[in-house]
Amino acid sequence: MVNYKVTVTTAVRVKATTFNNVFIKLVGTDGESSRTWLASLKGAATFYVGAVSNFYVSCPTSLGKLVLIEIDKKPLLLFPEDSWFPSKVEVRTPEGDTYHFPIYRWITDSDVKLFREGTALRVFDDSHHLGRYSREKELKLREEEYGWDVYAEGIPHNIKADSPLDLPSEVHFSFTKTTEFLYTASTGLTELKLKGLSDCKKNWTDIDAINRVFCCKRTKISDYVQENWRDDAFFGYQFLNGVNPMMIKRCSVLPDNFPVTDDMVFLHGSHSLAEEMQKGNIFLCDYNRLDGVKTNVINDKKQHLMAPLVLLHQTPDNKLMPIAIQLKQKPADDNPIFFPTDSEYDWLLAKIFVRSAEFSEHQLNVHLLRTHLLAEVFSVSLLRNLPMVHPLYKLLIPHTRYTLQINFLARLLLISKNGVFTEFAASGGEGMFTILKRSLSSLTYSSLCIPDDIAERGLESVPNFYYRDDGLRLWDIIHRFVEGVFGHYYKSNNEVQQDSELQRWIQDIFVHGFLSQACPGIPQSFGTVAELVKFVTMVIFTGSAQHSAVNTGQYDYGGWMPNTPISLQRAPPTTKGSSSESTMLQTFPDVNTTVQGMATMWLLSKQSSDFVALGQYPEEHFSEEIPRKLIKDFQEELDVLSASIKDRNESLDVPYTYMDPTEVENSVAI
Ligand code: FE2
Repeated sequence: MVNYKVTVTTAVRVKATTFNNVFIKLVGTDGESSRTWLASLKGAATFYVGAVSNFYVSCPTSLGKLVLIEIDKKPLLLFPEDSWFPSKVEVRTPEGDTYHFPIYRWITDSDVKLFREGTALRVFDDSHHLGRYSREKELKLREEEYGWDVYAEGIPHNIKADSPLDLPSEVHFSFTKTTEFLYTASTGLTELKLKGLSDCKKNWTDIDAINRVFCCKRTKISDYVQENWRDDAFFGYQFLNGVNPMMIKRCSVLPDNFPVTDDMVFLHGSHSLAEEMQKGNIFLCDYNRLDGVKTNVINDKKQHLMAPLVLLHQTPDNKLMPIAIQLKQKPADDNPIFFPTDSEYDWLLAKIFVRSAEFSEHQLNVHLLRTHLLAEVFSVSLLRNLPMVHPLYKLLIPHTRYTLQINFLARLLLISKNGVFTEFAASGGEGMFTILKRSLSSLTYSSLCIPDDIAERGLESVPNFYYRDDGLRLWDIIHRFVEGVFGHYYKSNNEVQQDSELQRWIQDIFVHGFLSQACPGIPQSFGTVAELVKFVTMVIFTGSAQHSAVNTGQYDYGGWMPNTPISLQRAPPTTKGSSSESTMLQTFPDVNTTVQGMATMWLLSKQSSDFVALGQYPEEHFSEEIPRKLIKDFQEELDVLSASIKDRNESLDVPYTYMDPTEVENSVAI
């Protein structure tokens, strides 16, 4: 007889314990063990949260190279079946080799589960018939568990589920995350001490009243925003380092529908637009996607959403100053171009309409579509097409954590018929689907890849652009890590082309994410290792760094409502000289709309206590030396970047922390 030493680790996670009997069968190239009961003197503590328990499995002869293990559990008589979350199994063979079997899954029933040895195997490496069989079986099961569904025509497809509990247990929020999320969601208004205001359908009557409501929960940045929201330089700054750094681009030719002339913006001939454009000092934000979008009716009042054009000038002291704003796309007498030289409230109202358009553009396109919905497509396609033993699964699975459930909740709580966005945003209802559809059909691959995006928007040399500085460094670090991992597993382009599982992953993304539209540049297959590396870098960057950049600051920049109104309830001025503070207050959303917006942004900016930072992999899916070393190097590089960002932030009035790797979550999880 020969003995195999089996070490089973139960995860440190709430409710991971099982009191059921657990059985194992070892399967190798030369045979298999009998199904063996894993009995231990520890009794009920054997598979307790965090327990590491050892057992021996005896076999008449050596099993050869281990291919997989079969695990099942059975409840004791009169005991209920429970759920168990083992993290890993290690097997020491009589020959002295150690085999690692990553598990990291809930085992909820008595069915036999197969788990592969940890060495990553592409489909054509899987030479053993039992390996191939388990690979096929795993994918077949996953295809059933992770179905595609269509929430609305024209937007990326999503996971099929009727309720959060209907989602496969692997992708559920942890107990901790669920509790914290539901607590904040249900107490948001109370936490912000806004209760009592949520039914008040009245106008704000003075700015101090907004201040009194807002005083209950503040962040350092939200304080700064409240102090500076009227300031032109800060208005410009937010296009670079606020929650939506994706709108601004260098302007070398004025759009035909924005007839700004030199004498309008440069008094006394101090500069000329042509010259300043030539020098690269003029920038444009064009919200044409919002043109003609049907607006909401809130508290029985028709709401207003503009599709503005904003022209900005980079001054010699490196400030980005707005110099002209046109609120509607079509030039007309009742669509004046506003300037900083206009009356205080004409100019301020023009900026408020831009900031409100910004809310819809940011939340629907930049945040929901370009991070949440795409991350869901990347995840569902991964789960349907890649078995656990594939290197892409091992690399990407930590970057899918909680994405399916948070998106399910976003559909349920934000954009459903009674969702907060539907009820309280200017673009809520039909309008939001128009914006989402337009956003998807105008999306390009290069806009998802920050080095290409920055170059295309002509923003390489804009000063004080921390989103770009931190984002490019993060992209570079992620890219080198992904290149290391795939360089190890794919020695030629031919191997990438031959990997049918990889190819199915990208095909499904093309069909279900980009709806088979020819979105410029989006790959439909991978022809080279470099293409694969770039796409996977984009997937990791989108779910981590980019989501953090557009998510974390929501309350910082949106908590003080006048800076980011969720809706506006008066049309903008059509002539100059008739607006006052009272016009502005009547334009702001009603009290109930304001506080619902604040509570939602509060909820969505809150990190949960089981947050996992970028590059941290508490679940060890890779067991080989090279990928593990690459992970270590990746983490070290992220540490260096984090230290340098923290150092830079010391000297800034408004620190830019959203892309500090210690603040960036591995996945879209909130
Ligand atoms: Fe988010």
